Amino acid sequence: MTHQGMTPQGPTPIDGAANVTIADVRFEHLRDAFGVGQACPRLSWTVETTVAEWYQAGYEIEAYGPDGQLRERTERVASDQSVLVPWPFAPLLSRECLTVRVRVWGVDGQSSAWSALSPVEAGLLFPSDWTARFVTPDWEEDTSRPQPGPLLRREFDVRAGVAKARLYVTALGVYEAQLNGVTVGDHVLDPGWTSYDYRLCYQTFDVTSLLREGRNALGAMLGDGWYRGRLGFNGGRRNIYGDRLALLAQLEIDYADGTSERIVTDETWRAARGPILASDIYDGETYDARLERPGWSNPAYDDHDWVGVRRLEHNLATLVAPSGPPARRTELLTPVAITTAPSGRTIVDFGQNLVGRLRLTVQGKAGQTITLRHAEVLEHGELSTRPLRRAEATDRYTLRGDGVETWEPRFTFHGFRYAEVDGWPGTLQADNIRAVVCHSDMERTGWFECSDPLINRLHENVVWSMRGNFLSIPTDCPQRDERLGWTGDIQVFAPTACFLYDCAGFLTSWLADLAAEQDAAKGVVPFVVPNILPMPPIPASAWGDAAVIVPWVLYQRYGDVGILAAQFESMRAWVDRVASLAGERHLWDKGFQFGDWLDPSAPPDKPAAVRTDPHVMATAYFARSAELLGQAARVLGRTEEEAHYLQLAAEVRDAFDAEYVTPAGRVLSDAETAYALALEFGLLKNVEQRRHAGQRLVALVRESGYHISTGFVGTPLICDALCSVGEIEAAFHLLTQRECPSWLYSVTMEATTIWERWDSLLPDGSVNPGQMTSFNHYALGAVADWLHRTVAGLAPAAPGYRRIAVQPHPGGGLTHARARHITPYGAAECAWTSEGGQIEVVVVVPPNATASITLPGNDAKPIEAGSGRYHWSYPYSSERVRHPRSLDSQISEFIDDPEAWRTVLSTIRQHSPGLTGNMDIATFMLHNNTMTLNQMLSLLPHAAEVRTALEGELAALGR
Ligand code: BGC
Repeated sequence: MTHQGMTPQGPTPIDGAANVTIADVRFEHLRDAFGVGQACPRLSWTVETTVAEWYQAGYEIEAYGPDGQLRERTERVASDQSVLVPWPFAPLLSRECLTVRVRVWGVDGQSSAWSALSPVEAGLLFPSDWTARFVTPDWEEDTSRPQPGPLLRREFDVRAGVAKARLYVTALGVYEAQLNGVTVGDHVLDPGWTSYDYRLCYQTFDVTSLLREGRNALGAMLGDGWYRGRLGFNGGRRNIYGDRLALLAQLEIDYADGTSERIVTDETWRAARGPILASDIYDGETYDARLERPGWSNPAYDDHDWVGVRRLEHNLATLVAPSGPPARRTELLTPVAITTAPSGRTIVDFGQNLVGRLRLTVQGKAGQTITLRHAEVLEHGELSTRPLRRAEATDRYTLRGDGVETWEPRFTFHGFRYAEVDGWPGTLQADNIRAVVCHSDMERTGWFECSDPLINRLHENVVWSMRGNFLSIPTDCPQRDERLGWTGDIQVFAPTACFLYDCAGFLTSWLADLAAEQDAAKGVVPFVVPNILPMPPIPASAWGDAAVIVPWVLYQRYGDVGILAAQFESMRAWVDRVASLAGERHLWDKGFQFGDWLDPSAPPDKPAAVRTDPHVMATAYFARSAELLGQAARVLGRTEEEAHYLQLAAEVRDAFDAEYVTPAGRVLSDAETAYALALEFGLLKNVEQRRHAGQRLVALVRESGYHISTGFVGTPLICDALCSVGEIEAAFHLLTQRECPSWLYSVTMEATTIWERWDSLLPDGSVNPGQMTSFNHYALGAVADWLHRTVAGLAPAAPGYRRIAVQPHPGGGLTHARARHITPYGAAECAWTSEGGQIEVVVVVPPNATASITLPGNDAKPIEAGSGRYHWSYPYSSERVRHPRSLDSQISEFIDDPEAWRTVLSTIRQHSPGLTGNMDIATFMLHNNTMTLNQMLSLLPHAAEVRTALEGELAALGR
């Protein structure tokens, strides 16, 4: 990279009259503050202004009652806080509804106009608010296997003059409520999955418009879901939380005359079996439309042949309002191809690996059954279902036969790109089938693009893997007999997730589950949360550290101190537990570890057989978590704990250094992940050790021919570690590698999501024979965070991006990169274009935030900036130096020259095709890198032909 001097210009304020408006007032982390679970929801707002360098000096908040009368107001509060500001009024009562507006003053003394009124409505805040009781159909079931999904109903009368109506509802199982024949709300798979023994979410719906004067009917369909369906690998278990499905519903109707009524689940309800013969998260849904009961959730339906219900005791103190968004259908995909497999079966390709289910529109004879099987990849033109292990992922629909029928399963989801459709009446047309994408409906907040289409696709794959694995809880994968809240996976992916989507509320809920499960396990964080594994929890490094690291990431990215306060006991319990395991030597060097799971050297059947000693990793993470816990204590003003844990962290670092690091700086295992951990977690004592470790890391990366050598733990750190020792081009080289194993390898194999293992699909196109072969695991996609922070250069420098570190890094042959993120303060952006010896940088800093901007080529002089849009343009070149290469160049010279290296490999492969079957030419070249190209060629068949071709190709490359 060369730099030719610069004349930065800017800032360039946007034109226009100065104005300040409040764009968005929010409560807690909710987009829709309806049925909130907090009596004192914190408030956040963002400011939009054309004033450059705008800082807030004060705010004023008003609350209005439903009658439009002012209820309470603050005085003008002198404060620069605009994110998660404490609720300034009397605590909300259950059901209470207010509208709130905010205005602010800038340091220039100018005030904004009042914001629009934002509604907030409390849910049922206390168990005593519930007069409803859980009810379950009064019949016996064989719960050793999937059972038909029950329907529950009850009718009631409504007088004229309804002012408002709310339905508070949840289930043991999954449910869909219907009122007068209309499905309530647009959620899927409510109430979602939480650690049901401790926390069960209920939903609040505004059903005012669904009621009518006279007779009404309320009903619900139930499914096994996570509550009593099969969960877990190796066959899993059923009935983990209980063996009876049950509904809890409380419909509250307020009349304009001030009276109110409640319709609640009790013994007056009726139940019957419905058309869902079986539903299961892993196995799919079986639906017989002939068994539908038309009109069952309408009034005047004859339910005389239905049975009664009985009460089921369940602790109402476990009920909580959701802190994040519900799962919804977020996109419909049309088939890109419908083909016939060699077996004669019909295969639909949606062109994208996704999570959700199919929607059919079909016409045919009554009793005809359509079978839908799902898979992420094809092998030999047929569905490859082996990676699903014991998940059947099969839906079955039996037709009513009375015209056009539309069906989508309700209580299951699948991870798939391909579907096999069997039993379709006539010929399946693209119009008859859609893929319905489902996930927790978080707000998209982060975008990245650059000049390399392969990297853009990689990033898009990360986004799709996040979508697929953020369905109610953060899962490892969405397709096989797992789909569990594996702690290690989200521990490494959380920073990326928090950039791409607003997942603060989503992860806050999951962390509450983690704390509850951990408490029950005496400080041990289970491998998965919710914990459904049959064995007693045992601690595992990097996985259990989710207890400390995920809250810390939420604090960093969303500025939420409350999450640290809420999780502090959990964070501490984990570190204390590890400290007791590590003993006085502060080394956690005994017992089980997952280690650097699935580094590419791990054989298909041994995912933990990796390069880095798992105990080196365990002690490194111990130091990291102790350090973060100490810092969290500092934020919370817990001075004693701050001193204690920072001291502990220092002692663990010393222990690590003494046991695993040579005085010169070589780190035990001598593997990339070990160096990445030591460098990124600050475990090396002195500059000299750091320098040496950095050199050794680069040497290893180079020796591997810039192929990836890390697993779940090292992969998120490796590029940062390289950059921290000044080796950004090596990081780019790793990133842009296309050979297996590498990030872009999967992209060249047409992946549309991130794979679980580097070679889930082997270079010959066959599916990796290992048990761990998912095509939708986000963990290895954690590199996206580096793309955002380093390549595009947009990173938080203070919690909630109150201060932003803007430092773009042109390199890797890219000519352009851009990241945009909706921070808690508003939109922030950094974009650069570097071409023809000139660079342009555009930076957007949101109001009430600041940035330290380090422009390429000007590392020594960061620019301090307040809000506004900035633009610089100056002479600068980030082009790779293109050294001349010839047949007489040493192979080692090609290793650092990605373009030339790729050309050499592809030319040899093309002209000496017999070779690939017998040996990998890349490995051969790496091992013999002191030879010249010419010397090596003389060992190959067709040497003369390859030579001529290579000369031509290298010349064409300009070498
Ligand atoms: C999951 C992982 C998880 C791992 C534990 C796997 O079965 O899919 O993503 O973290 O087990 O090492």
